[in-house]
Amino acid sequence: MKVIILGAGGRGRNYTRYCKQYGVDIVAVADPNTKKLQKLGKDFEISEDKLYSDWKDILEKEKFADAVINATPDKVHYPSTMAALEKGYHVLLEKPMSDKEQECIDMIEKAEEENKILMVCHVLRYAPFFEKLKEIVDSQRIGEIVNMEMTENCAYWHFVHSYVRGVFRNETISSPFILAKSCHDLDLIGYITGKKCISVMSEGSLKYYKKENAPEGAPAFCLAGCPHEKTCPYFAPRLYLKQITQVGWPTETISADTSFAARYEALKKGPYGRCVYHCDNDVNDHQSTIFTMEDDTIVSFNMTGFSSENTRTLRIFGTKGDIRGHLELGELEIYDFLTQEKETIKVDYKTIISSHGGGDARLVKAFIDAVTSGSDGSDLKTSARLSLQSHLMAFAAEKSRKEGKRIYLEV
Ligand SMILES: NC(=O)c1ccc[n+]([C@@H]2O[C@H](COP(=O)([O-])OP(=O)(O)OC[C@H]3O[C@@H](n4cnc5c(N)ncnc54)[C@H](O)[C@@H]3O)[C@@H](O)[C@H]2O)c1
Repeated sequence: MKVIILGAGGRGRNYTRYCKQYGVDIVAVADPNTKKLQKLGKDFEISEDKLYSDWKDILEKEKFADAVINATPDKVHYPSTMAALEKGYHVLLEKPMSDKEQECIDMIEKAEEENKILMVCHVLRYAPFFEKLKEIVDSQRIGEIVNMEMTENCAYWHFVHSYVRGVFRNETISSPFILAKSCHDLDLIGYITGKKCISVMSEGSLKYYKKENAPEGAPAFCLAGCPHEKTCPYFAPRLYLKQITQVGWPTETISADTSFAARYEALKKGPYGRCVYHCDNDVNDHQSTIFTMEDDTIVSFNMTGFSSENTRTLRIFGTKGDIRGHLELGELEIYDFLTQEKETIKVDYKTIISSHGGGDARLVKAFIDAVTSGSDGSDLKTSARLSLQSHLMAFAAEKSRKEGKRIYLEV
């Protein structure tokens, strides 16, 4: 199988790694950021002639691969995916598909018209933890779901990295948080309950990471002599210079050269060295949303950027029992109302070398298998059409939050 990778950032690198693992031939990679592109080429032994500076340079050529993996920024998804489908490629598209409803629908229709697979990276559907949870719910062991609570605990260091200093900080370059990150959770709500959402009410804001909360005398960059170095949990050098040699995510994203000296330089003037109170961020740092599903099943979803843990937690309340789950611990606790017995299931996912609870690598494998087997993609656990509901839920949540009213969805 021949694959083209669009975007050589964090996700593009991940997908390149899995493709290589599964023996896929990477025939082209595009990224306007020369340093990232060259680094990806070097790290994964992809020759210079396969590296392009823009997705357009690849997709204007005659078709020369089976599929495109689209890991470009949110705003680039629509034009590049439409062009790839038009050229006859199957597409694995990063979420969110788009921040515009019509663009999501256009891409779905284009894929259907061209008879191509358009799979969306809702990787958590492929995480063993959620697979097990779905199996338990579908077995009716806890009866019918009456309500459910889910929390996206985004760790404070993750939140400031991605949503205050980083590439998802501002809606004009990315999307609202509930779409950019939580569309995974909204997708899982539909997947686990097996129901459609009929209405949404949401509250939330950017409460904390703004200039009026800056401690006195905090400069624009942490390394410019900030007097609060010892008391600020968000002091950039503490977050990014602690690792001397072994550099993992998110530290590896602040500079293509990950040596200590290069990272130090990157923090002096680069985006990740900025004071968290002096960034151009506008995405919410907390949001609570109630989704009413068909049959009056209620789901409350809470997201916070102020957590020590970086995980998803949930409780599902059924007519015959309840479930408590913790993704990071891989733990599911099931209580049976009749027998009054509790069972704890440990889902072992740490043996899979992949982020998102093992979901990333398994989703890529499912996509590769679907393309190579010539399937129409209908056996995949995620598709653009299935993903549409989570996007509509996110758009409705934003509308509800901004307009202060309940929003009804067409079922
Ligand atoms: N599925 C998930 O769980 C998950 C997690 C993180 C990010 N994402 C999504 O994945 C996508 C990429 O995120 P990321 O974290 O890798 O961001 P990133 O900024 O690290 O990478 C995106 C790359 O695309 C490149 N790019 C910009 N314009 C381009 C163009 N015209 N042609 C080719 N490349 C171009 C950028 O230079 C950048 O290197 C985003 O849509 C994001 O929302 C999904």
